[in-house]
Amino acid sequence: MAIELKSAKDIEQLRVVSLMAAETLLLVGEKLRVGMTTEEINTIVHEDTIRRGAYPAPLNYRGFPKSVCTSVNDVVCHGIPDATVLKDGDIVNVDVTTFYKGFYGDTSATFYIGTPSADARKVTEAARKALDLGIAEVKEGARLGDIGAAIQEYVESQGMSVVRDFVGHGIGRKFHEPPQVKHYGKRGTGERMKVGMVFTIEPMVNVGEWEIDVDPADKWTVTTADGSLSAQFEHTIAVTKNGCEVLTQRPKPLRLSENVTAVFA
Ligand code: MF3
Ligand code: CO
Ligand code: CO
Repeated sequence: MAIELKSAKDIEQLRVVSLMAAETLLLVGEKLRVGMTTEEINTIVHEDTIRRGAYPAPLNYRGFPKSVCTSVNDVVCHGIPDATVLKDGDIVNVDVTTFYKGFYGDTSATFYIGTPSADARKVTEAARKALDLGIAEVKEGARLGDIGAAIQEYVESQGMSVVRDFVGHGIGRKFHEPPQVKHYGKRGTGERMKVGMVFTIEPMVNVGEWEIDVDPADKWTVTTADGSLSAQFEHTIAVTKNGCEVLTQRPKPLRLSENVTAVFA
């Protein structure tokens, strides 16, 4: 299937829904506490999304039972909110996807609960930087493979690994559409980026090896095969005349994730 190029009007709507997702993620950051359950994160995301007149896209998506993905420690992605209690030292990725007036916006971040271990900081900061390095490759005429190459080179230089089994994706009137955006690969390969393409970049970085397992019972929860910690950040990005626009850019820093270095120093 071909990659749909979005019109200026489509992008305007994507900007609106993407900002909603970004603001819901900011709210999660404000509310996160040691002792909170992932189910409580689900309630925050669900209620804030509905309050906006929008719909939480994960809910009932291919049978997913909740309104947000919450992925703790060795959970790579697609964690299902439940009675799990967040404890001091945990890291949790919260992945918000909002649907509003026919368009989707998708963004996630990893948060620190209490004081992180050295590995938790290492993997979380590497995933954040990996996303930034991927975004820096996005411009008209560049190749999709340039994104993956930049991410893989950096993450492996840090002695960590990039998950292969899950990729970024085109987004718009569908939650997931072409192209696939790999977080590993070779420069100069893949489709050329064109003005109007909108896709996510969402690298999952593991402290150990890249292989993953999927929980055979719930068919969703993805964990690292070696049990090592994993972190992820995600933005929805449009290719523009001047490079790119990060549609899920946050209007302020994310509590318990950004600007926390001083607290841990
Ligand atoms: N938000 C995820 C992504 O970044 C997809 C979650 S699918 C769900 O693509 F069903 F688990 F919500
Ligand atoms: Co996504
Ligand atoms: Co997502």
